Amino acid sequence: MALAAEFFDDGSSFHAIDPMSINPEYLTNFSIYERYYIKKGKYRFRCLLVDTKSITKERLTQLLQTWDTVYIHKKQDKDYTEYIKNNLEFILTHKEIDVKKKTSTLVHLSNDAVQKAFKTNFSSAEGSAKAVDNIKNLITQAMGFLSDIKSLDGMVDLVGHDYDTHSHSIKVGWLMATFINANRDLFPIQSTSNFRQFLIQAAVSGFLHDIGKIKIPKNVINKPGKLNNLEYVIIQSHTAYSTSLLFEAKLSMDSLKAILYHHENDDGSGYPCGYRSEQIPMMAKICHIVDVFDALTSKRAYKEAKTPYQALTIMAGKNPYLDTLQKFENEARKNKRTPVTAIVRDDYDSKLKRLREKEMIEEEAQKRVEARMKLRDKGMSHCFDRQLLKRFIITINKADSFDMSGLLKRKA
Ligand SMILES: [Fe+2]
Repeated sequence: MALAAEFFDDGSSFHAIDPMSINPEYLTNFSIYERYYIKKGKYRFRCLLVDTKSITKERLTQLLQTWDTVYIHKKQDKDYTEYIKNNLEFILTHKEIDVKKKTSTLVHLSNDAVQKAFKTNFSSAEGSAKAVDNIKNLITQAMGFLSDIKSLDGMVDLVGHDYDTHSHSIKVGWLMATFINANRDLFPIQSTSNFRQFLIQAAVSGFLHDIGKIKIPKNVINKPGKLNNLEYVIIQSHTAYSTSLLFEAKLSMDSLKAILYHHENDDGSGYPCGYRSEQIPMMAKICHIVDVFDALTSKRAYKEAKTPYQALTIMAGKNPYLDTLQKFENEARKNKRTPVTAIVRDDYDSKLKRLREKEMIEEEAQKRVEARMKLRDKGMSHCFDRQLLKRFIITINKADSFDMSGLLKRKA
């Protein structure tokens, strides 16, 4: 779409971009503008370059180096988004582009991909494969950046914001990739290319771990107050739904398990299976740690965001209600059928059994809700693998923007 050579505007029709993010190797079909202040909040936007079709690569390289901030008209947003999709790797690996600009580019694209995935019709195998492929392509281009500990200096600006499922999912995938890359010894994978594929799969599982929430009623997901028993059980079913929706999308078994078990606690008090430490797959344990870390450091309608330091203090803290929890867990263990299993299977044909099942769900959920209410923010060390959590604190501490040294000293 051709645009005028000049605009007088308050700036709302344009958005700023870093000229360094333009790849001279790649033809673009959007116009680039510069901005002058005129008066009373009005700017003049003058076209510097209509597109890159009629200019040599060398000349474009020269021009890009002389420009500071340049602007794109919002009418050409689609062309620009298409361009960054195809050049994400170039942008994220560019040495002269600031980490914060890289982060905003990545988040912009990731939000788009995750939102599309959450709107996908998963009833067909093609639909779910397409949604996963979209995310996988993006992560493949971004992997060098996502798995680099220095990229967390870009993420720090996203910490403390309002919680929303899409940006939460992105941060979970990002932290999983960074953590796994910094702790390669946890995974016996020899070849570099296999390890890279493993990292990509890990990030995909983080991006999509909560996709099953699309099956949960909105008034349960968005309920501001305490959940009742049934609502709590319904929420728990999102891990099974996530796995089920992605089952035919060619995710690795590690990823599917990470998604299914990302709410299992180390002491067996989690869901859906109540697995204990040795039964929980490593990738699921990692997903659980980063999931809780991001949830605690995000703002909700009913609570302020914790700082990363406070969040990790709680996560590593001793739980004063451990005895209560253990008592509850012993009771729950005697009752082999956990509520979520009962709901998901739904394989009982007699009416009587169904009624009893409902009763069991209510009883079991009531116990779980009570135990969890007591545990909230009082220490969560029973939820995580201690050694793994320590590694997470050490990993986060390596990024300049996350100083956890006090916590490491205290716990040492
Ligand atoms: Fe979840």
